[in-house]
Amino acid sequence: MSEFAPAAGRLAVLTRQLCAAAASESTWEHVAQAPPDPIIGVTDAWRADTDPRKLNLGVGAYRTEDGKPFVLQAVREAERQLSADPAENKEYLPISGLPEFCRLSRGLALGPTSVAIQEGRVATVQALSGTGALRVGAEFLSTHLPPAHPRIVYLPNPTWGNHKTIFAKAGFQVREYRYFDPASRGLDFAGMTADLASAPPGSVLLLHACAHNPTGVDPDAEQWGRLLELTREGRLLPFFDMAYQGFASGDVDADAAAVRRFAEAGLELVLAQSFAKNMGLYGERAGALSVVTRSKEVAARVESQLKLVIRPMYSNPPKHGAAIAARVMGDPGLCALWKEELRGMAERIKAMRAALYDALQQRGVAGDWSFVLRQIGMFSFTGLTRPQCEQLVSKWHIHLTLDGRISMAGLSAASAPYLAEAIADVVSSGSSA
Ligand SMILES: Cc1ncc(COP(=O)(O)O)c(C=O)c1O
Repeated sequence: MSEFAPAAGRLAVLTRQLCAAAASESTWEHVAQAPPDPIIGVTDAWRADTDPRKLNLGVGAYRTEDGKPFVLQAVREAERQLSADPAENKEYLPISGLPEFCRLSRGLALGPTSVAIQEGRVATVQALSGTGALRVGAEFLSTHLPPAHPRIVYLPNPTWGNHKTIFAKAGFQVREYRYFDPASRGLDFAGMTADLASAPPGSVLLLHACAHNPTGVDPDAEQWGRLLELTREGRLLPFFDMAYQGFASGDVDADAAAVRRFAEAGLELVLAQSFAKNMGLYGERAGALSVVTRSKEVAARVESQLKLVIRPMYSNPPKHGAAIAARVMGDPGLCALWKEELRGMAERIKAMRAALYDALQQRGVAGDWSFVLRQIGMFSFTGLTRPQCEQLVSKWHIHLTLDGRISMAGLSAASAPYLAEAIADVVSSGSSA
């Protein structure tokens, strides 16, 4: 027997003891509890609330007058046609997604007379809704921006909460530009242009194409013109996030005006599209990412590299939502029905703005609340302080993000006066920041 045998035996015993100790303890013991997502967490809190008056004004999803999710008739009909179509199957899509969906999506965004599309200068891939389009776009830029360009992205302050993480995860340094003016509850255009004028050339500039989330404040046509000049002069790369096409005005063409203007001016740009809101396809994750380039050849190479980003992430996108959206956009009858329903959703949201404003006026709530009428899209940024928002939740069972954003789409003719009463209470009870 070797002289090392006793030591080897002791080592084996020790190893067995360590393994036994480890077996009783999770490998993930050290993992800390992550905070709930600030937006999704609102819905969780609303679900857990047992008060019958409870209201969910946190979620960015359209609700009917009865507070119910809304499946569009155009979507129901497209689904019926798909299930009856013997040519439909459940095969994998290509890495870049459903070709017809990509073609129709970029057409919807850039318009029927787009020169960039006619010249084949637009690379489009299907994406996992707007979030996936932003994530794939950010990853592509991080890898393929020219080496001399800084990896800096400029985001509006405030912006949709996920933007920062998406770009940071792709290796970008995140900077903010001024956007919201708390005094007027409108656009701080002077601050915005001053910040963008000092951005290093080659920086990425994220712009909400319409219906800015969370503020409901968009630049007007003249301001977009100045932003276009600034983008060109400063050699910034515009990245449009268009999550609400049709929700701002009720008209998909009017809401795409800024994106079309930049593309028609010959600028290269990146565009993330979502069909979550405007077709109510939230859970289907139907979206698209387009890169408008200077030539057909560059567009083809860009598309090939977008596929390399997608392949190791999720291989290829899901089919059903894109197939629905393609049928809706591609069939003239369904498309007309969809646009009518979209106009109806936008109109209902505008009516809720009027209902809330009137109810606030009737109660004589202190301050100028006319911004509720001026802001557009799904959200209103109320300027309510965090303590006031907390009181809305705890005392009135009105659930919202604590930055004071309310989803107008979650309001009804019946609940608008209740919200006004609650706002009157928290404003007069003097909770302040
Ligand atoms: C500004 C903005 N961008 C992107 C998204 C992403 O939406 P989705 O991934 O559901 O398409 C949202 C969703 O609320 C948004 O508000």
